[in-house]
Amino acid sequence: MCSAKSSKAIEALSLVKPSEPCRLVVLISGNGTNLQAIIDACAASTLPAKVAAVISNEPAAYGLQRARDASIPTHVIDHRDFGRRTDFDERLKGLIDTLEPGLVILAGFMRILGLDLTEHFLGRMMNIHPSLLPDYPGLNTHARVLADGVNEHGATVHFVTPELDAGPIILQSRIPVQADDTPSTLAERVHQCEYEIYPRAIAWFATERLHLEASIAYLDGAPIKA
Ligand code: GRF
Repeated sequence: MCSAKSSKAIEALSLVKPSEPCRLVVLISGNGTNLQAIIDACAASTLPAKVAAVISNEPAAYGLQRARDASIPTHVIDHRDFGRRTDFDERLKGLIDTLEPGLVILAGFMRILGLDLTEHFLGRMMNIHPSLLPDYPGLNTHARVLADGVNEHGATVHFVTPELDAGPIILQSRIPVQADDTPSTLAERVHQCEYEIYPRAIAWFATERLHLEASIAYLDGAPIKA
């Protein structure tokens, strides 16, 4: 039989209750190497969070296998099953909400998300992009960097806002572009940066050091300067 506890006893229990790790829902479309870095960081306790679920819009995404290998529940919402982009977004938003994330992580998720969904998760959705934003938003960043002959490249973690790849910047990592670089050598080095900065930025959020307020990202109470 359950016994009713006095309010004092309940208060005492809530004081000693260990706080739950931040629940992450990770959205992918492909290989999922960033997902793997996040899973590994959680397992190593360098990231005090838990990947609660992985969602892919691509049924064949290898990242789904990575999730299954780590005993993480997976979901597929194939965008091709929806006539309208807004219907896909609506289904995705509903699923994510049922998973009760503290933070939603876009990790190589190759769909553009609409206003309603991005506003719904404002301040609790992050993305990683393979360029030094605001430079080179969009696709094919490594080839575009090489074509322009710029000497620096990198990766950016940012909060997601309705405008593509334009949300407040949280963390960046820079690499020099070398004379003999190709899109694939650049991609490889940028990926290595991503595996370091994405878990770090997520850890800041999970430990309540990072938040978004009035379109500004704050770390430890101070605005983050790009
Ligand atoms: C990464 O380069 C990330 O910056 C971009 O998509 C790529 C995903 O790679 N958004 P992976 O699926 O994590 O290996």
